[in-house]
Amino acid sequence: MPTLLVTGGASGIGAACARRFHAAGYHVMVADIQDEKGLALAAELGGETGYVRLDVREEQDFEAAVAAVMQRSGRLDCLINNAAIVGVIGPLIETSAAEWDHACAVIQRSVFLGTKHAARAMLTRGNGSIVNIASVAALTGGFSPHAYATAKAGVEHFTRSSALELIEHGIRVNCICPGNIATPIHTGVTDDRWQGRMARISELQKDDQPLARFGQPEEIADAAFWLASEQASYVVGHALVVDGGLMAGRAWRKQPPHLREYHPVLK
Ligand SMILES: NC(=O)c1ccc[n+]([C@@H]2O[C@H](COP(=O)([O-])OP(=O)(O)OC[C@H]3O[C@@H](n4cnc5c(N)ncnc54)[C@H](O)[C@@H]3O)[C@@H](O)[C@H]2O)c1
Repeated sequence: MPTLLVTGGASGIGAACARRFHAAGYHVMVADIQDEKGLALAAELGGETGYVRLDVREEQDFEAAVAAVMQRSGRLDCLINNAAIVGVIGPLIETSAAEWDHACAVIQRSVFLGTKHAARAMLTRGNGSIVNIASVAALTGGFSPHAYATAKAGVEHFTRSSALELIEHGIRVNCICPGNIATPIHTGVTDDRWQGRMARISELQKDDQPLARFGQPEEIADAAFWLASEQASYVVGHALVVDGGLMAGRAWRKQPPHLREYHPVLK
């Protein structure tokens, strides 16, 4: 059976990916540092679903997780590099180098480590797919804290860079740039300055985002499943934006009157 390894698989988008691939018949290995949630998800899905503790900052954890997948299923078809944190927030003049390094290690260096060890396993079959979860924050400024946005831009670029090399071995690498998705990442940060962020995003969406709602983790999981599938066999080094139109431009309903005049439906 095809096999998926998903980092940060105990929560949010990662858990939705685990469910989506499981429903399609994949053996799924959920990897996370939230052991209780990861084990509960694996038990809920049952069958060939497993859980492995994997801190994405640790290279030996990736080695062990890939080895566990190979021992269990004998093959690795897809890695989703999904785990991340918001990381350090606040003005850059108050940001320490240690906080910056920590965010980049979890968000960006992790994708290099995962890709390296998954590719080693995939090389033996000359086939595989790696899907990195980047962000719209990789594409433009202002959506996220400095370290997060910078690290995600690195993820988006590493997608292209690694895709060029790995396609030579039959491994397709792509990424997804989600917009605002309703997951615990928005509510889990305890810093006061972050509190109420979902309410603030909801307000902004009413004004500016073409599709004025949060995305659901399942909508990202569907995109990841498609990228991993044979339906996307010609898609290589691509950044797939899944954001309710956020990156497309300001909602028509909020365009100034002189622009709306040209619109055949809305004027
Ligand atoms: N939710 C959004 O609006 C949004 C938007 C753009 C991109 N993303 C990206 O989607 C991905 C999934 O995030 P989510 O929204 O589902 O958030 P989430 O907080 O629900 O999930 C993140 C998971 O990563 C795990 N994790 C954190 N640090 C880890 C570490 N060191 N090692 C292993 N696992 C670790 C957490 O335990 C958690 O299970 C992230 O890459 C995030 O940056 C989310």
